[in-house]
Amino acid sequence: MATTNKTFTMIKPDAVGNGHTGAILNDIIAGGFKIVAMKYIHLSKETAGAFYAVHKERPFYGELVGFMTSGPIVAAILEKNNAVEDFRKLIGATDPAKAEAGTIRNKYAKSIEANAIHGSDSDENAEIEGNFFFSQFERF
Ligand code: TYD
Repeated sequence: MATTNKTFTMIKPDAVGNGHTGAILNDIIAGGFKIVAMKYIHLSKETAGAFYAVHKERPFYGELVGFMTSGPIVAAILEKNNAVEDFRKLIGATDPAKAEAGTIRNKYAKSIEANAIHGSDSDENAEIEGNFFFSQFERF
């Protein structure tokens, strides 16, 4: 599949609540990503549950939905060549204890659940996730 050059991210409630939004956005921009859509929202259980529906059967699903609704998040669509792969590198491994030094999760995440930031894992999911949060009038 052709690359779309876009990815989708959320700065999660732990990172927003701990005051890391500005630093994380700086890292994203310094990493060469352009913000093409952005919003600051508090997810409902229904919305977070629908976003993470692929994980419905996983043991951590309930806690994940609870965590993602525990405070506001920043959602954004980002543009860059090779966006999905490069952004996954910038944020680091799911478990911050395993995330490389200098990555966003290494710097700002506390645990595998409260891991500071989301990054789409494929071009297809980037498209689906971006469309889940943003209308055509909210992206530039
Ligand atoms: P996953 O898609 O595996 O990771 P990533 O966000 O790196 O693509 O999991 C989605 C989210 O689910 C993850 O960011 C945090 C949460 N999660 C847990 O709370 N516990 C776990 O054991 C795993 C694997 C994920």
